[in-house]
Amino acid sequence: MSDGDGAADSPATDPVDAPAVDATGLSYAYPDGTPAVDGVDVTVERGERVALLGPNGAGKSTLLQLLGGLIDPDEGRVRYFGETDDADAVRDRLSVLTQNPADYLFNPTVREDLAYGPAQQDLPDGEAEGRVERVADRLDLTELLSKPPFRLSGGQQRRAALASALTVEPDALLLDEPVSDVDAANRETVLALLDELAADGVTIVVSTPDTELVPQVADRVVLLDGGGRVAATGSVREILTDTALLTDCDLRPPQVVRLFDGLADEPPLTVDAARDRLGDGDI
Ligand SMILES: Nc1ncnc2c1ncn2[C@@H]1O[C@H](COP(=O)(O)OP(=O)(O)O)[C@@H](O)[C@H]1O
Ligand SMILES: [Mg+2]
Repeated sequence: MSDGDGAADSPATDPVDAPAVDATGLSYAYPDGTPAVDGVDVTVERGERVALLGPNGAGKSTLLQLLGGLIDPDEGRVRYFGETDDADAVRDRLSVLTQNPADYLFNPTVREDLAYGPAQQDLPDGEAEGRVERVADRLDLTELLSKPPFRLSGGQQRRAALASALTVEPDALLLDEPVSDVDAANRETVLALLDELAADGVTIVVSTPDTELVPQVADRVVLLDGGGRVAATGSVREILTDTALLTDCDLRPPQVVRLFDGLADEPPLTVDAARDRLGDGDI
């Protein structure tokens, strides 16, 4: 590039303050003509936790793949960290986990799958191995490291795929239904780990059709209607207490919100929050 058109090269915002992921006007139809995402804008600030909430077929998985640069939009664009529109240029800063864990498990052993990402990064000796051990320990996968991934159960595969997304130590994580078919104990393990990552400043986007999960993984919600459009965005409380809005999108508020409807001005969003407030005599 010549010096003459420097303005086109310099980003409008300082990249440090720019959103982790900034998508505008995204539309996508599958080759068979099925429209999946229709004019969607999504901005995810750094360190933010956002849920993409919508019913089956709403376009969540498609949108997540568009946001992660795994498929190219028919229209619109995605900018990463205020720096580039090229997802491949930020692959070691952005981990995407699609709905199918088998996409990430293609090596002879789970250990090799977890080591695959860090092997592409120019890391000091022993660092990749250390990360594999740490992440496996954190997700209760240590016993499974030497197994062929196709021998794992569905829930184990999902945790192994998540682990493979984490060993690159990304700045931003895009996760498609990360705890579907994961049992209750492992679900708590995964959610606790996501909390820790968020506390460390990692940006986290989770897609789910499950309103019960949303308060556990997100602060803000992008609600998709059945037609691949954004029905609303707002805080978790704003979206999850709006029964009419959720019903329009074929969803229901969490059970605890329905239980406390009319009993409390600001219903608790989780069972734990309800217990705390009942214990305080607040409800
Ligand atoms: N590979 C594909 N080919 C054609 N249509 C697809 C394909 N994948 C998904 N779709 C359709 O695109 C729409 C959005 O799907 P998807 O993004 O998977 O929604 P969600 O994840 O919210 O359930 C649905 O109508 C679905 O049937
Ligand atoms: Mg999906």
